[in-house]
Parts: sequence; structure tokens; C-alpha cells
Amino acid sequence: MKKLRVGICGWGNVATGLFNTIENNNKFIKSNGNLEIEIVVIGARRDNPKCDPGKIKIERDIFDVIDHDIDVLVELIGGVEVARELILKAIKNKKHIITANKAVLFHHGDEIFKEARSNDIKVLFESSVCAGTPIIKLLTEELSANKVTKIAGMLNGTSNFILSNMEEGADFKPTLELAQKEGYAEPDPTFDIEGMDAAHKIGILSSLAYGTPLPPDDFYIEGISKVEKIDFKYAKDMGFTIKHLAVSKLNNENIELRAHPVLIKEDSYLANLKSVRNGIEIETDLLGTLHIAGSGAGQESTASGVISDLVHLANSNNNTKEINLSSKKKLIDFLSLSFQYYFYIEAEDIPGVMASITSMFAEKKIGIESIVQKEDLKDNMVPIVLITDLFLEKEHDDLLKNILNLDSVFKVRSIRIEID
Ligand code: HSE
Repeated sequence: MKKLRVGICGWGNVATGLFNTIENNNKFIKSNGNLEIEIVVIGARRDNPKCDPGKIKIERDIFDVIDHDIDVLVELIGGVEVARELILKAIKNKKHIITANKAVLFHHGDEIFKEARSNDIKVLFESSVCAGTPIIKLLTEELSANKVTKIAGMLNGTSNFILSNMEEGADFKPTLELAQKEGYAEPDPTFDIEGMDAAHKIGILSSLAYGTPLPPDDFYIEGISKVEKIDFKYAKDMGFTIKHLAVSKLNNENIELRAHPVLIKEDSYLANLKSVRNGIEIETDLLGTLHIAGSGAGQESTASGVISDLVHLANSNNNTKEINLSSKKKLIDFLSLSFQYYFYIEAEDIPGVMASITSMFAEKKIGIESIVQKEDLKDNMVPIVLITDLFLEKEHDDLLKNILNLDSVFKVRSIRIEID
């Protein structure tokens, strides 16, 4: 049986979850993974009252973990700059790295992989995207023979949890609080609800599939905080639901990269993944469309991914695919893409209001697929729900502003429709 001497940096939720899982599932790790894990040292700035590490050596300065006789440093401190420094220093000291930290890879991935390559060190990061749901090794190894044409998925468990609950009639705020209580949300939940967390993850997947750089050039990122409960009802009337989707797609040999809420058909695979589940659809030439779904957040799910990296490290010789740093594809300008849109407009119920709204679309030569006046609100206000034909993204912000500038309009918001 293989054996690995491990140093863990960080002693929060994720690290203590890993510690407990290694203890609880040791028999599977040994029999299925052919691996004995010895935790030699833990870098913990402070004790964690929820977990007693027993006799394991504790270092208060996480950088001191590197000085121990370990094969691998498991970085679970989170954050960006200190994590980068720690990882680079450990690589130079010939320690393999396992990290669950998507932010540090998003911002400094190219530098880290380059350093690892020149030191002949492995950096494994299964848990950085969708926690333990296996997507990294799937993309880098199992799909090696395929041309991947699209990766699209719900990569943020907190957002999917909140949207699924809103679909059932819950309000945004208490659902976010529940996600925080359950330990799904990031320390700063704006990263979850404003789309950054999903953006970090799709940035990493895009780099693996297409060699886009880490950090990537700027791309379009929008979170779920503007979606309202009533949008689900109107979306459902038309056979849609609302999800937060992160997409990396091959488009004429360049790459479309984006993360934002979308209306998707309610009978589609992704639409039916509820709660904290993550789900990804991968389009390939050899396998067709592949689906993968699982828990994308939480202590145990993350521990599962980290342990899979440990097993992989112990049992592979040198077969971890190199991250492709040379074939950098260009990102397509988001403003040059076209989408169909859902618009929610709240307007005064007076003669001519529909005509004034539709004239805003006509002015920009944007076709309307359907327009419906919904049941009256109070104070003579009425919601109008509209689906457009495809139009260029660069027209969108102006259009929204022009509609809002109409005297009879009080509120307007829009959500893109993901067609395929
Ligand atoms: N906060 C993340 C999520 C968990 O909600 O998916 C780990 O990335």
C-alpha cells in the first residue's frame, strides 16, 4: 500500500472536514484507494473548538508546515495572495500541492503551474471546482481524446440553493442566511450571489479545456441578486425556469466565456438539478453530450475531492496531464454575442403604454417574440412580460435605459435566455 505524509494548511470548516473524513472513511481510502494517509502537521493560526487534532503537530505559522518532512501540502487557507505565496514556496521546496482554492488558481494559475512544471512538482485541484464532484480529472484525463465544444453548468451551490428555493416561493434573504448556516456560502457571500465564485470555476475549466489564461482576460460576470420571485412564475408560464449558468464555449475557434442568470427550458437536464447541487453539461465530439452532477459545496464533498487528489498523487507515476500553457485562445468580445431576452417591465396601466414600450424595441430593430400584460398590481401598475428575438448584446444596456426613461415605466429588468 502507498503512503503519503501530508501537511494541512488551514484549520477551518474545510480542513476539519477533511480531517474527520480521513478518519471516518479510512477503510475505503485504504481498500479502494490503496493509500495510507499520515497527517504529519497542521498549520493552524488558532485552534478550532469543533475539532481536536489529537497529537498531530500544530504550527501557528502556516509557512512552517513546509519545513516538515511531508510529501504533499494541502492548501485549505483560502484567499489569494498569502495562498499564492505559500503554494509557490512549497513548490520550490519540492512539496506536491493539493488545493481546493479556486480564487488563487483563477488569479495566479499560470504562474503556479509554470513553477510546478519547472520544479517537477504536481499541483492537483479537484475540489476547486464543484468540490468533490469529479470534473477536473474528467476533463483533463478521461476526455483527453475528445474535442470539447461547450462546458455549461451551475457551478455555485449557494446560487442554485437560493434559486431553487425561490422557484418554490421562498424569499432571497432568508434562503441566503440558511445557505450560510449550512456552510455552503463563501465567507463573503457576495462572491456567491454576484457570480464571482462561479466565474472563478468556469475560468479554471476553460483553461483546462481550451488553454485560456489564468487569470483570464475580462469576461461577463453577473450574479443572481437581481432575480425576483415573480420572474420564476412568468418564466414557468412559458416553459422555462431560472438558473445561474457559467459557460465556456468554442465559438469559431475562439472562446465564449460568461457567467450570468439565464432562463432555460424547465424540462432540460440542468433545470432539474435543485438545491445545492452543481451540474455540468459537456459537449464533446466523441461522447456527445455528457452530464455530471453532485454536491458542489460543503465539508464532506470538498474532502472527497481532496482525498481523490491524494489517491491520484500516490498511485500515479507521472501521468497527470500538463496544464496547457501555450495554446492560448482568445476570448470573444461579449458585446458581439447575441441572445434572446426575457424582459420584466412594470408600467402604469394607461392607454398607449404598450405602444411606447414596443417602439423602444422597434427603434433598435429588435423583434418581439411575445408580449403579455399580466395581472394588475396595486396603484394602477401592471407588469408586462416580453420575450425578444435574438439581438446583439451591445444594444442591451441602451435599450434597458431607454425603456426605463419612459414616463410610464417604473421598473425594468432582463434575463438572457440560453437556447442551446
Ligand atoms: N460557495 C461555494 C458554492 C462553495 O456555493 O458553491 C465552494 O466553492
